[in-house]
Amino acid sequence: MKILTVVGARPQFIKAAAVSRELRGSHTEILVHTGQHYDFLMSEVFFRELEVPTPDYDLEVGSGSHAIQSGRMMIRLEQVVIKERPDRMLVYGDTNSTLAGALVGSKLQIPVTHVEAGLRSFNKSMPEEINRILTDHVCDLLFTPTDAASRNLAGEGINQGVYQVGDVMYDALLQHIMIAEKKSSILDRLKLRPRDYVLATIHRAANTDDRVRLEAIMQAIACSEVSVILLLHPRTRDRLKEFGLEKTMQGVGNVRVIEPVGYLDMLVLEKNARAILTDSGGVQKEAYLFNVPCITVRKETEWMETVEAGWNTLVGESLSLIPELIQNTQSEPQSHPDFYGDGTAAKRIAQTLELHRDRVSE
Ligand code: UD1
Ligand code: UDP
Repeated sequence: MKILTVVGARPQFIKAAAVSRELRGSHTEILVHTGQHYDFLMSEVFFRELEVPTPDYDLEVGSGSHAIQSGRMMIRLEQVVIKERPDRMLVYGDTNSTLAGALVGSKLQIPVTHVEAGLRSFNKSMPEEINRILTDHVCDLLFTPTDAASRNLAGEGINQGVYQVGDVMYDALLQHIMIAEKKSSILDRLKLRPRDYVLATIHRAANTDDRVRLEAIMQAIACSEVSVILLLHPRTRDRLKEFGLEKTMQGVGNVRVIEPVGYLDMLVLEKNARAILTDSGGVQKEAYLFNVPCITVRKETEWMETVEAGWNTLVGESLSLIPELIQNTQSEPQSHPDFYGDGTAAKRIAQTLELHRDRVSE
């Protein structure tokens, strides 16, 4: 079967690293990069390190407002899909690249598969929530990572074509952690000792686009008594600059601000952190998978099971609690259920697509 996969943003390259490998065993894959993320450290580094196949097409859409970015993606992607005429398309997650792929495919009557389906924050002010809901409702094959995600789909009346396979990010983590521990020298380079630092990432629009909130988050991080390594997403970098807040974080307290890192360095930084502070979906989950307590700078999360199990604390409005939470994250909960499957999600996806091959050719 000829499958056209659409990727465009950092977490999608990591998910594709796990899934493409399996897909290509039994299917032909055409990989399309929308160009949503384009900096070396947001894109190419993942293709190199994780041996993600070189995209067959790069749509080079770059950044822009939601409408400009999504519109460019759809116009350029439509041409590729018409030319390639795939049997099926595949999209990951909840970014603008995900929705563009789902809309273009479904309107050209190509069946579309959604990997990481069913997640909900129940907060429609998030662009990602809109992307996920719309994507799930036009896809015919939906691979969910968790019980909660499968329940969410059932709650919206989506019962056909739903397969709970586990989380492909867990597959990616298992596939790369040993390589990362062998190859990465990030702890030495940053002179970090295991469990002696907190790893932080902030990039959600709700946290970065509002000057007052961004400043409050940065000030709370700066009050930490434990060393903090803050990996600066380009969105956050740009907003700090735009709001004249760049200097607030330079040489402040125990905070070190550095550029984003590749996935191998990231896994090592996460695994050895004393705690993780983040608003990233993927990073919350990786914190859990590495048994590292997480503080999530959001009011809600799509990964509620990590909160219910005691490993993740949501900090929405009470940002002033952050320094104290960082200080007190040494005690770990006793139970650690396998919420994210057994690391074979990608294999199950490829096998299920194999079953659907017959339906496509019928
Ligand atoms: C996007 C996704 C978000 C996901 C995140 C992963 C949407 C709506 N959001 O958010 O769900 O969690 O990716 O990281 O799709 N920029 C650069 N270089 C780059 C990429 C971006 O400088 O390579 C800057 C630009 O100023 C751009 C801004 O970052 O305007 C935001 O990029 P964009 O892709 O629109 O959204 P993200 O915040 O990255
Ligand atoms: N990540 C990375 N380097 C970084 C920050 C994140 O490799 O500097 C990885 C991280 O390990 C996870 C993924 O990127 O696998 C998460 O992506 P991001 O936070 O950009 O998006 P989200 O998951 O919130 O959509």
